[in-house]
Amino acid sequence: MEAQLEQLRTEALAEIGAVADEPALESARVKYLGRTGSLSLISEGMRGLSKDEKPRIGKLLNETRTAVTAALDERKTALASAADARAFADLDVTLPGIAPLRGSLHPITQLQDRAVGILRRMGFSLADGPDIETEWHNFDALNTPADHPARNDQDTFYLPDGRLLRSQTSPVQIRTMTSQPPPVRIIAPGACYRRDEIDATHLSQFTQMEGLYVDVGVSLADLKGTLDLFVRELFGANVKMRWRPHFFPFTEPSFELDILVTAGGKSRWLEMAGCGMVDPAVFAAVNKSRGDDAYDPERVSGFAFGFGLDRLAMNMAGAPDIRLFIESDQRFLSQF
Ligand code: DAH
Repeated sequence: MEAQLEQLRTEALAEIGAVADEPALESARVKYLGRTGSLSLISEGMRGLSKDEKPRIGKLLNETRTAVTAALDERKTALASAADARAFADLDVTLPGIAPLRGSLHPITQLQDRAVGILRRMGFSLADGPDIETEWHNFDALNTPADHPARNDQDTFYLPDGRLLRSQTSPVQIRTMTSQPPPVRIIAPGACYRRDEIDATHLSQFTQMEGLYVDVGVSLADLKGTLDLFVRELFGANVKMRWRPHFFPFTEPSFELDILVTAGGKSRWLEMAGCGMVDPAVFAAVNKSRGDDAYDPERVSGFAFGFGLDRLAMNMAGAPDIRLFIESDQRFLSQF
């Protein structure tokens, strides 16, 4: 038996060392260690051995089993790393990789962030209001009653319950004043909606940034100084501005602020913001809703302004069509 075991061991180790793949390795395992494999057959001969021989042969049997098992394990590891090596053989790790596409902020978001940054440095803080507004916040409290012609220009989308998609960010003025006493100094960027025919310069959703400053002794000079500085920070010290008298129901007096833009050798005035001194009728509506006299027009005064961010972004991007901003076309957006 000793000789048999010795021979089996030599044969098994040679065969295992030479197998070329996993299935061959598995057959070798079954052949030598399986229930009806060579080692089991030899160990059956143990029964016929004498008492003296049994321990010695038993020990040899175990050693042989251990050696074969170890050889199987070793070959298995070797086969696996050979397979890994083959898988990487054609890979040139020095080739440049495929860089993931880097996203960027939307051009309107970029402009909004800059505008917010400038006004925050001047002491304005961010305020917010809902996109779905009440008619009262969007119109009545802003001195625009139901029969006011200004409602025509701001036709919007109505919900069955009478609420509407806000046509301007100005209702945030009302929400701010009804919830806190003066002084207030806020800006409120956000989406607005109108029932406009969609074309190269109109969308049914657009972006405005509202501003409101109410305190004792706020004057038109403060409004001019604030927007002057704001526009210069945004477009550079040499920007040309123009103040045009205008009408808004909730400011008196009211103005539109234009900037001169030059493109392709041609210059034209671009309407940038509406603004003015808060109309006492707005303070009256706020006081009535608050049930106090916190915004007494004899004591406090204020200015308000509203910028349209889309046209500005269009202009800064040199975009010929406002619809480019909502089409999510990579070729357009990745330029910013
Ligand atoms: N809400 C106005 C609009 O959408 C813009 C505006 C004008 C806002 C004058 C103001 C303001 O705060 O004072 O046309």
